[in-house]
Amino acid sequence: MSDLSKNVLPSNRGKKQKIRKSNKRKLSSTNWIKRQINDPYVIEANKLGYKSRAAFKLLQINEKYNFLKPNRKVIDLGCAPGGWLQVAVQKVRSTENEVKVIGVDILPVDNIPGSKTFIGDINDSAIDKKLIDFLGDYPDIILSDMAANVIGHKQTDHLRTTQLIEIALDFTLKNLKKNGTFLVKTFKGGTETELLNIMKKKFNYVKNIKPLASRPESVESYTVCLDLKG
Ligand SMILES: C[S@@+](CC[C@H](N)C(=O)[O-])C[C@H]1O[C@@H](n2cnc3c(N)ncnc32)[C@H](O)[C@@H]1O
Repeated sequence: MSDLSKNVLPSNRGKKQKIRKSNKRKLSSTNWIKRQINDPYVIEANKLGYKSRAAFKLLQINEKYNFLKPNRKVIDLGCAPGGWLQVAVQKVRSTENEVKVIGVDILPVDNIPGSKTFIGDINDSAIDKKLIDFLGDYPDIILSDMAANVIGHKQTDHLRTTQLIEIALDFTLKNLKKNGTFLVKTFKGGTETELLNIMKKKFNYVKNIKPLASRPESVESYTVCLDLKG
């Protein structure tokens, strides 16, 4: 994989590709394929060996806040397929001999050198000990790009998403080192007021951010929390 640590914007903004019409394909999947093959972040991620276009979101957020520094220990919640793990491994210089980046997901993740991943559900409290035991220390950084499967029912989707933010925050407040960083995927309008208030009480700096790589039409956004208080 090439080192894209400085390259946070895709270079390819070329001509749009068309796809052949097929009677069998549903309109929604045709639109998805069209969007994927013309998305400069997808093209660049493939070129550079990133597992997902999401890698660029973390690169862009880190470009602004610069929290992924060498030797920091990182836990990535909802890490599959592994784009954020790859970025974190590069930035903190995690190696096979000294793994500083670990992740968990309900889905399996292909091996990413310099990282260790666990299959598990963050709702399962036993996962906390497993992760901290492997890392041998509390993390300096906790990332959560977790997303629930949306079903199209606005209130249910909103509840499921809020629940994931809540779990990630709970995990963070139990396990993050003092002065540590928490980055979490939230949704349009930012984090729920109640959760945001907790974040503001616990961290010295809290801000919502929508990186360029996050599709403008997507309701996703991120909340970055810096400097956990004692
Ligand atoms: C948007 S993807 C993460 C992409 C990742 N950051 C990357 O760069 O490749 C969201 C992930 O959250 C995971 N997820 C959702 N709910 C979870 C849960 N309760 N516990 C663990 N992982 C979960 C999903 O399986 C999915 O892989």
